[in-house]
Amino acid sequence: MPLLREAAGPATIIRREDYTPPPFWIDRIELTFDLDPAKTRVLNKMVLRRNTEVPAQPLRLDGEELNLARVMLNGGGCSFKMDGDALVMESLPDGPEPFELEIFTTCSPEKNTQLSGLYLSQGDFFTQCEAEGFRRITYFLDRPDVMASYTVTLRADKDKYPVLLSNGNLVEQGELPDNRHFAKWSDPHRKPSYLFALVAGRLVAREQRIVTRAGKEHLLQVYVRPGDMDKTEHAMNSLVSSVIWDEARFGLALDLERFMIVATSDFNMGAMENKGLNIFNTKYVLANSATATDTDFANIESVVAHEYFHNWTGNRITCRDWFQLSLKEGLTVFRDQEFSMDLCADASARAVKRIEDVRVLRTMQFAEDAGPMAHPVRPDQYVEINNFYTVTVYEKGAEVVRMMQTLVGRDGFRKGMDLYFQRHDGQAVTCDDFAQAIADANPDSELARQPDAFKRWYSQSGTPRVTARGTYNAEERRYTLTLDQSCPATPGQAEKLPFVIPVAVGLVDAGGQDLALRLSGETHAVAGSRLLVLSEASQRFVFEDIDAEPVPSVLRGFSAPVIVDNGLSDAQLLHLLAHDSDAFNRWEAGQQLALRRAVAAIRAEGPVAAQPLDHAVVEAMRAVLRHPTLDAALKELVLTLPSETYIAEQLDEVDPQRIHAVREAMREQLAQALQADWVWAFEQHKDNGAYRPDPVSSGRRALAGLALTMLCLDARQTGDTVWPGKAYQRFKDAGNMTDRFNALSALVVSGQPLAQEALARFHTMFRHEALVIDKWFALQAGAPDRGGNILPSVRQLMNHPDFSLKNPNRARSVIFSFCSANPAGFHRADAAGYVFWSERVLELDAINPQVAARLARAMDRWKKLAEPYRSAAREAVARVAAKSDLSADVREVITRALAE
Ligand code: PHE
Ligand code: ZN
Repeated sequence: MPLLREAAGPATIIRREDYTPPPFWIDRIELTFDLDPAKTRVLNKMVLRRNTEVPAQPLRLDGEELNLARVMLNGGGCSFKMDGDALVMESLPDGPEPFELEIFTTCSPEKNTQLSGLYLSQGDFFTQCEAEGFRRITYFLDRPDVMASYTVTLRADKDKYPVLLSNGNLVEQGELPDNRHFAKWSDPHRKPSYLFALVAGRLVAREQRIVTRAGKEHLLQVYVRPGDMDKTEHAMNSLVSSVIWDEARFGLALDLERFMIVATSDFNMGAMENKGLNIFNTKYVLANSATATDTDFANIESVVAHEYFHNWTGNRITCRDWFQLSLKEGLTVFRDQEFSMDLCADASARAVKRIEDVRVLRTMQFAEDAGPMAHPVRPDQYVEINNFYTVTVYEKGAEVVRMMQTLVGRDGFRKGMDLYFQRHDGQAVTCDDFAQAIADANPDSELARQPDAFKRWYSQSGTPRVTARGTYNAEERRYTLTLDQSCPATPGQAEKLPFVIPVAVGLVDAGGQDLALRLSGETHAVAGSRLLVLSEASQRFVFEDIDAEPVPSVLRGFSAPVIVDNGLSDAQLLHLLAHDSDAFNRWEAGQQLALRRAVAAIRAEGPVAAQPLDHAVVEAMRAVLRHPTLDAALKELVLTLPSETYIAEQLDEVDPQRIHAVREAMREQLAQALQADWVWAFEQHKDNGAYRPDPVSSGRRALAGLALTMLCLDARQTGDTVWPGKAYQRFKDAGNMTDRFNALSALVVSGQPLAQEALARFHTMFRHEALVIDKWFALQAGAPDRGGNILPSVRQLMNHPDFSLKNPNRARSVIFSFCSANPAGFHRADAAGYVFWSERVLELDAINPQVAARLARAMDRWKKLAEPYRSAAREAVARVAAKSDLSADVREVITRALAE
């Protein structure tokens, strides 16, 4: 059934400043489900009372796509009306006494292709309620500041749905007539509706019991479909590590007797932190060495941790309204990043994790902040909240929390977290409340000195620019570092006030050592890095007793989410690449050197230079690759050129084909100039013994994988067949998915004839492993474009029997891999990529508006494109906009993209 929508009615804008507390509280809710795919019956008994602190108003319950059968008030009949989707009751008892409402509705899970509310996945029932899915299950005050105690009874066929799960504790179960059974669950914690969940189906569980510090025993379970039990060990291990870590680092213990994770292959997002019953995309649960790569293992570790950490940051303390989303998401991303870093054995592995996180932030979030969807970490308005689960709210939000930790120190941050829980446990609060708790617990900190200025990180969008310029005075033995800041205008925000920016700085001497640093006015010099706090438009920092001009290493560890113009010469960058004690800035120096060459080659007139890199950079790269002590993971990051998307962000006018050509030329140059070194790197790192997904062995696999790709690329130039042959052999013989997929990818990426044979073989081997088939699709849709070959192959992939638009993972593996992750394949001079995009957005919108709206964002940056791309792109966006019955989700994205 097509979705019925208002034809191009004016969008309702929800504004943060309009927040008012709810006019009613719901203290208790008892839900009874008769589960049936075509028609599920939901009986909802609620105890409500007026919120006497706000003026008396009618009760307006949210609902969506529900069939209403009956409403009863205190056991008797009552009057109500429908106002759009809302169920409105105007004549409810006055006064603060509780009253009972009984609402009986039905819904159709099998028709729910949006995957929000109650839906079916491979015949099993799942729910997804964040942000506003609960209203698709029953009528309710579906907002996070209304917290109720839930009791849930599930009734269903015993054979089809032997497992019946909901939040909290199982309090009763038993048989029913007609081969049915029931289970009754009671959640001991009050919660907002977005944390409700139920699961029913044929599932099996891996179980583990653990004892927390207080001596309490808890049951941990990971539920999957029967064939997937052999892929649950890593998720369970990650969960156990998360429980231990949160107690050790933040004193936060598991507050439930039972904690469950359930995997589903149909899910819009990564995973969901429903109280005691986390529901996960299979992608972030299922792994064994034969089917999952090192990246998959690492992602599972951090997503399992992320959802578990939400139990305190999100569930115990939740958001007052959805504008405060980063209260839970920014903080929880910060926590999962810290967790992954704490699991690293050494500083180098920590730095590698940091570089990976920053790479995501800078490619995705900086682009978002510079485009039509730019919004503050705490947005001021939205049409569709689902469009604001963004890299800004998540990743920049995490950086804001990280800056607080940087400003108050690790111990101070722990004190702040303690105060936050002391003050707000059990409440629905704001981002301001969080920042204030951290500041109040650290009265002597730079954060407490200017809390309001710091909070601009929550209210001002856009990426701040910091300029760093040093001058050396030999006579006075002084080095003066001048830091300036500014922030470009963003939609709705023309002018910005200064941010509070922690800038970690080191001064590196000619021998490559960090100088001890003493600022003017201080008595003692301190070794290593210093934290400077820039809070005005311009500030000068004077370092004393400096014997010779040093090279400044600014923004070490990426201490703030800003763009730095450090004004360094190539020679200075080469010095940092060779010596910086800060691994992040060492990597960054290499990136900047490569970026400068890329930008120069792109801007140059005429055909693309065959060798865009100069001798010095090539030799510096060789030195890193051959370095005796740097570890493999860091080498792989340094030797990987900045992505086409990141390069595009540095340019005012973007020609995606030229960017691609230049980056490919640079890659081929590195492949050829370092050929002997790649051989050495491959041979040295290719064997890693029995598979373990730890940072050291995964770093070795990553470097061996890069080496193999470079060797196949070079072979393509020279006509050599030995390395492609070796890659094919490794593909066949690999003992784990990482090595196998890297070898396959080396063949595909370098356009080797053997790639087709390998792809066919790979498909046959893994045709029953959905997550592996996703990789197979993604690799082909994301492969380097050669003469426009990718779009036809994407169209072909969509005709493959394994393709389905309804499954989000599969749709993403083909369509997003092409439209969002393959710029040169997508941005075609003949506009066929854009036509493809507009067709898919419209097609997907009828099935799943959330997924469609994410795809719509592939065109965010169309205004930066050079002709002929720009006009063609605008036309495609306008074509989508012209459709009268777009979802609010897609409408909002498209409207913003077209706005002046
Ligand atoms: N709250 C989830 C998380 O970040 C993300 C999510 C949002 C999942 C909306 C589903 C729907 O952990
Ligand atoms: Zn989250």
